[in-house]
Amino acid sequence: MRLLEERIKKDGQVLGEDVLKVDNFLNHQVDPELMAAMGEEFKRLFEGAPITKILTVESSGIAPAVFSGLAFHVPVVFARKHKSLTLQDNMYSATVYSYTKKVNNHISISKKFLNENDRVLVIDDFLANGQAVEGLLEVIDQAGAQLEGVGIVIEKTFQKGRELLDQRGIHVESLARIAAFEQGEVVFLDENNEN
Ligand code: G4P
Repeated sequence: MRLLEERIKKDGQVLGEDVLKVDNFLNHQVDPELMAAMGEEFKRLFEGAPITKILTVESSGIAPAVFSGLAFHVPVVFARKHKSLTLQDNMYSATVYSYTKKVNNHISISKKFLNENDRVLVIDDFLANGQAVEGLLEVIDQAGAQLEGVGIVIEKTFQKGRELLDQRGIHVESLARIAAFEQGEVVFLDENNEN
């Protein structure tokens, strides 16, 4: 998505080897017009899929997920993160390891908000190692719901998340696909292909 790639070039900051800081428009300050355009783009990319619910995980997935919900006219549910591993009967839950932050997060969703009639589109801000999405897929399985696809705002193709999802035959659409960080600059996959 050109608008997003331009914004990443303009406002994204490469930190170290493999982290892109996007707190100017995505995960601290949020640009609602860009989010709305992204919601519409996900709607176009998953056109025809009978989606009944958008699922994400707090906190940075919420903004793109809500605007996607607006475009699809379906409710948005975000999994909550807890440090405690105490299991509760009325929740679906999974454990998610964050490679970036080196912590285990316990995510959970109330059984009230996901069931076997749901056809789910997962939306998240980053696809890096794929652990957050894997956790959400586990929760969808527990609910007996059906996954329709995964929509990602920024994918880092050099980390293993995309491969994991492709291996499972999941329909994945990413609005920006980063091939590499070179000397502090972002290189998108489509730029590479043009060369
Ligand atoms: P995963 O999201 O694919 O599972 O990969 P990983 O375990 O590496 O990521 C853990 C957390 O780090 C996630 O946020 C993810 O969104 C974030 N993250 C991964 N790569 C980047 C990056 O290049 N830039 C930024 N800004 N974040 C990145 P989280 O722990 O769920 O936190 P939250 O910010 O959503 O609350």
